[in-house]
Amino acid sequence: MVRITPFGYEDVQYWRLSVYRLGKNVQTVYAYWLDGILIDTGQRHNGGNILHALEGKPLDRILLTHHHEDHSGNVGYLMKKRQVPAYIHRLGYEKLKKGLNLSPLALMLSGEVKKVELEILEETPFYSKNLQIFPVYSPGHAEDHYCYHIPEKGYLFSGDLYVADKIKYFADFEDLGLQIKSLEKLVQLDFDTLFCAHNPKVKQGKERLTAKLNNFKHFYGAVERLYHKGYTTAEIMKELQIVESSFYKYITFGNFCAENMVKSVVKDLKINPRG
Ligand SMILES: [Fe+2]
Repeated sequence: MVRITPFGYEDVQYWRLSVYRLGKNVQTVYAYWLDGILIDTGQRHNGGNILHALEGKPLDRILLTHHHEDHSGNVGYLMKKRQVPAYIHRLGYEKLKKGLNLSPLALMLSGEVKKVELEILEETPFYSKNLQIFPVYSPGHAEDHYCYHIPEKGYLFSGDLYVADKIKYFADFEDLGLQIKSLEKLVQLDFDTLFCAHNPKVKQGKERLTAKLNNFKHFYGAVERLYHKGYTTAEIMKELQIVESSFYKYITFGNFCAENMVKSVVKDLKINPRG
C-alpha cells in the first residue's frame, strides 16, 4: 500500500510519500513543488500519486537532490508524462543513465529505477519563473548530492543531508568527514526553512542543521581520540557505548548500521591524517 499526504508552507507545496508493507510504514520521503519546479520525485511505488498531485500545476523542470531511488523513482515517468526536463549532478547523471541496480530490499521499499537520461546541472545559479535558485554541491551522503538554496525566501532544500539532529546509523557509501565539510558550507548560507527530504523543519532550520553538524563533529572527535590511542573499530564502539542495530545490520547485510559510522571516520583518518 502507498499513501500521499499534502502539506503547504508559504510558497511551497509538498507531499509526504509513504510506502506500507504488512500494515507498517516502511519508508517515507517528501517531494517539493514551488514556482514551477519539482524537487525530488518520490519512490516509484508512489508514481501515480505524485503525478496526480501535480495535476493542474505548472511544471517547468525537475531537480533531483541525488540519484537514490526514493528521490529519483519517478523522474523518468514524470519527464515523459509532463514533457519536462530534469536535472542532476554530473555523477548522478552517469548513474541514472545506466539505471540503478537495486537490492531486493530497496526494490520492496521504493521500486525500480530504470535507466533515464537527465540534464547535467552545474553548481551555478539559475532562475525559475520568479526565483533565483542556487545549487550547492554537498557530498557525503551521496557523491552527487546537491542542496538547493533560495536566499530571497530563506529556503534550503537539503535532500538527505539533514534527516535528524543525531544520526545513529550510516549506509556503507556514506562519508562522515565529507558530510561535516558539506554541513559547514551549508550553515554559512542565509536560510531559516529546511525542506529536508525525510524530515522538514519549516522553522529554525539552520539551528537544526547546526545541531547535526555539532553532533557529527563531536562524534568524529571522540572516534579520532580513540583511534590515535590504537583502538580497533570494535573497541571504539564499546568505549563510546555505541549500540548496534542488529535488525538493520541483518536485513541490509551490513550495508546500514552503527558500525559504518565509526568505520567512515577511521577511513577518513587514514586518508587524511591530522596528526
Ligand atoms: Fe539518499
